[in-house]
Amino acid sequence: MSKKLIVGNWKMNPASLDEAKRLSRRIKSVASKLQRTETVVCPPFPFIGQTKPKIPVKNFDIGAQSASIFADTGAHTGEVSANMLRDIGVKYVIVGHSEQRQNGDTDEIVSKRLSNVLTQGLIAILCVGEKARDEAGEYMNELKRQIEQSLNNIPAKMAGNIIIAYEPVWAIGAKEAMLPEQIYETSLFVKKIFADVFGPEYGHRVRVLYGGSVNFRNAFEIMTVGKVDGLLVGRESVNSPGFVELLKAVDKIS
Ligand code: 13P
Repeated sequence: MSKKLIVGNWKMNPASLDEAKRLSRRIKSVASKLQRTETVVCPPFPFIGQTKPKIPVKNFDIGAQSASIFADTGAHTGEVSANMLRDIGVKYVIVGHSEQRQNGDTDEIVSKRLSNVLTQGLIAILCVGEKARDEAGEYMNELKRQIEQSLNNIPAKMAGNIIIAYEPVWAIGAKEAMLPEQIYETSLFVKKIFADVFGPEYGHRVRVLYGGSVNFRNAFEIMTVGKVDGLLVGRESVNSPGFVELLKAVDKIS
């Protein structure tokens, strides 16, 4: 049985390096004692160097929140390449988060970022999710389109390094998460689309995370009833006591 994967997406938090160091120290200490859970934290770029462990910590890794559409070094002001991230020891990169899609990332751009991340041998956490749910089920077409187009041009041999984070946009930063039963249903749908793109063996193997208003209270039920492979956590991942409780709750799942 593979380990559960809990990814903390810190977004543009916390406000200072001191807080980032304190938060990551606490998380590392708890994560290293867990049995069945892998923890990844994705700090903002400037904090990566100081949150990354000096010596490897068991069941703990650092991720980044994005990587450039440009593959090579050069005149690209403000950009950070996947190669640079790999070079400083980053293992995971979030790609196509809805907040970046809202800021202009099209599926084509997401696909370029994804390709660069995978080319560097990093694990990509590809975020997908519908903006809203409708009775007629148009949201399923939206989801399908997003997955297919983001995976456009990605060779099947790289599919093993892709994790899908299903994050319905309407559940991000909300009061309530999606219902676990709905999460289960949709995660199956996501796996099916992935299988249609890369073949059934990849559909079986792909890990699907859920994200959107996850906290220490609902994490256990989302994981067990929603039957996902892990969680992508926003607000609760920068709330030290809450995130620690969340990790411990998930680690109880056998
Ligand atoms: P919240 O957990 O704050 O809803 O954010 C979810 C998210 O966007 C994680 O990537």
